[in-house]
Amino acid sequence: MSESKNNEANKMEKIISLAKRRGFVYQGSEIYGGLGGTYSYGPLGVELKNNIKQLWWKTFVHSRPDVVGIDGPILLHPKLWQASGHAEGFGDAMVDCKECKKRFRADHLVEDATGLDLEGRNDAMTKAIQDNKIKCPACGKFNWTDVRDFNMMFKTEMNGVEESVFLRPETAGAIFIEFKNIIDSTRQKIPFGIAQIGKAFRNEIVAGNFIFRLREFEQMEIEYLIHPKMDWEPLFEEWIKLQENFALELGAKKEDLRRLEHPKEKLSHYSKKTVDVEYNFPFGGFKELFGLAHRGDFDLTQHSKYSNEKLEYFDQETGERFVPHILEPTFGVERSLLVSLVSAYDEEEIDGEIRVVLRFPKKIAPVKVAILPLSKKEELSKPALELFNNLNKNFVCQYDETQSIGKRYRRQDEIGTPYCITFDFDSLEDRAVTVRDRDTMKQDRVKIDELENYLKEKLT
Ligand code: GAP
Repeated sequence: MSESKNNEANKMEKIISLAKRRGFVYQGSEIYGGLGGTYSYGPLGVELKNNIKQLWWKTFVHSRPDVVGIDGPILLHPKLWQASGHAEGFGDAMVDCKECKKRFRADHLVEDATGLDLEGRNDAMTKAIQDNKIKCPACGKFNWTDVRDFNMMFKTEMNGVEESVFLRPETAGAIFIEFKNIIDSTRQKIPFGIAQIGKAFRNEIVAGNFIFRLREFEQMEIEYLIHPKMDWEPLFEEWIKLQENFALELGAKKEDLRRLEHPKEKLSHYSKKTVDVEYNFPFGGFKELFGLAHRGDFDLTQHSKYSNEKLEYFDQETGERFVPHILEPTFGVERSLLVSLVSAYDEEEIDGEIRVVLRFPKKIAPVKVAILPLSKKEELSKPALELFNNLNKNFVCQYDETQSIGKRYRRQDEIGTPYCITFDFDSLEDRAVTVRDRDTMKQDRVKIDELENYLKEKLT
């Protein structure tokens, strides 16, 4: 392994270990040996995740008169998945090792071994595996099944429904089928968008790379409806820039982002253009973070056909009736969280010691302020706790009175707390506290009466 790859792998190991040790992310069902592709978010992880979702909602729903939100169900009518094409073909091609019984994504296996991208061509992948005598990455043997399709939807049964019901593999479907209700119950005029944040489930053949590829995850999606004859390219460009900006707001550096336009031959028949925003992850380099697709009128036309409901828009000003076209910006919550962790992680040497800091953008930091009395004596702890109780009404705070002040600063740096407040014996006299900045480590003496405004200004 090259030195830079080694460093990246080390960085990832350190992040995963910190995430567990400090309560950001735990392996799902860990005490039972784990359940692949599922994770729990601990006390800090849930704050970070909620902050990311709130930032997204504020950016794309509350700040825009042309976007409204919904919260649809995870369980949706089975016909929806026939209409959308998921029942027929939502998945990846797989291949099984007959020796060790491990299952692999065929396109990844072929591409890793030969550099060839044969995704979607099962016969060609079977041939490439045979011709190149590709060995099983797990057991090293060469004894494969043919490459075949695998549907990634999780199936379940529901009382009163004859057919199988599926856990939704994307949130988008729940949005398309509410199109008529939204038109009828709001005064939105085209162009406008419908946004949703929610869980999605995919029975991935191989989950992995920590929280990058999961079987249970969350998406933040917008279906943006436009006139079929609209000059859509400038709007497409605007949306992709907004997606890149959101990645920057999570803390990503510009040089770690790039765009990947899907080649024409790989586009779905209905899509005019699809672009992924990729991030340079510490495992394997650039990979999909967000996506933007022009989906034409495919979704509304299909749902109209399968439901027998007219899904059209009537323009009262022009008297025109039409099926809108859709631009779909889609974002993964866990990939956003992973980008925020990877971008924030930093180590610096101070007086011969390594300081680990998560330099989160302040608005997504899980804890905003830590209150640290210089001594555990009641003389200090009582007024410091009082301060904690007051500040906690406006900012997520932690109170910590154990161990030396240096150790407590390090603990807060490690979870990315932007401000530490030290309450000392002088505070009793001058009614002021010391505020330490996470990034510069500079300290300000601030009057307690002015503290709330001081923090508000710094944090918002
Ligand atoms: N409605 C379009 C759609 O679902 P997608 O590219 O399949 O498109 C959208 O998924 C986003 O969801 C991705 O850009 C990624 O951030 C996230 N995502 C997809 N599959 C995922 C998985 N298995 N684990 C974690 N996040 C995933």
